[in-house]
Amino acid sequence: MKRLTEKDDWSPDYAESDSEHRIDGIEEFYRTNENIRELWDRVLLPRLRDCGARTAVEIGSAPGQNLIELANGLGITPFGIEYTEEGAELNRRLFARHGIGADHVLCDDFFSPALDSRLGTFDIALSFGFVEHFDDPVPVIRRQLEFCRVGGYVIIIIPDLRGIYYVWNAVFNARVIETHNTTMMRNDSFFKMCEGIASLEVIFKGSIGTFEYGLLTHAGKFIPRAGISLVRRISPAIRAFDRHVLARLGLGQSPYLVVIGKRVG
Ligand SMILES: C[S@@+](CC[C@H](N)C(=O)[O-])C[C@H]1O[C@@H](n2cnc3c(N)ncnc32)[C@H](O)[C@@H]1O
Repeated sequence: MKRLTEKDDWSPDYAESDSEHRIDGIEEFYRTNENIRELWDRVLLPRLRDCGARTAVEIGSAPGQNLIELANGLGITPFGIEYTEEGAELNRRLFARHGIGADHVLCDDFFSPALDSRLGTFDIALSFGFVEHFDDPVPVIRRQLEFCRVGGYVIIIIPDLRGIYYVWNAVFNARVIETHNTTMMRNDSFFKMCEGIASLEVIFKGSIGTFEYGLLTHAGKFIPRAGISLVRRISPAIRAFDRHVLARLGLGQSPYLVVIGKRVG
């Protein structure tokens, strides 16, 4: 299994700018973004509300807002695993705003044997934008599953970089395509991959949301940055066109592929 990213792909993003300002922006994004709200309020939380979970871990957790959604929505105690120092620090600052201790962020590599003592100890193991950064995601998903107790749940969310997202990023920021396993996004591959994993019973799978400008990136270049700014402003109209026209033609631009599964062995 080959890693498609290294720490330097993430650290500069977490290190830049004043972190309190950065956290304000993350909280605002999660509060107002319609796709994120659909994901959490209509898909994930209703399906997990009665599962009796008390703890959750996110792998690749920085900045930690997904864990705050789980903590607020389900009352669970959150833990993050994040291998960049800068990301772990940002995650700790976000947790501090919610009264969660710094020791709830484990700054370590997800594959480190030092984390093996935590295997089988969590009620929920979440990843959001993680497993698609490997050429073979199956062993990654298996290890994510191992962090759950038997009877616990995994939530796996990946961006769906097909269609307009693929074309845009291939033209303006090819590093995005290099660092994502886009093959696993094609033709139900991700869903079939999860269904083929022993000990994982898939209880929900789906494409979630409508057009998301956040999946268009610019790598600091002027033209795509200006383009994204424009797209962002007309995003409600594009989203309506996506929902009412493209989706009906089977060409919808849903940004997320989601699997919820139960560890059954
Ligand atoms: C796309 S980001 C997703 C962050 C977060 N899950 C979210 O939704 O905002 C992937 C994260 O995984 C972290 N990461 C990548 N490989 C890792 C590894 N082997 N162990 C722990 N963290 C890792 C990166 O530093 C980065 O913070």
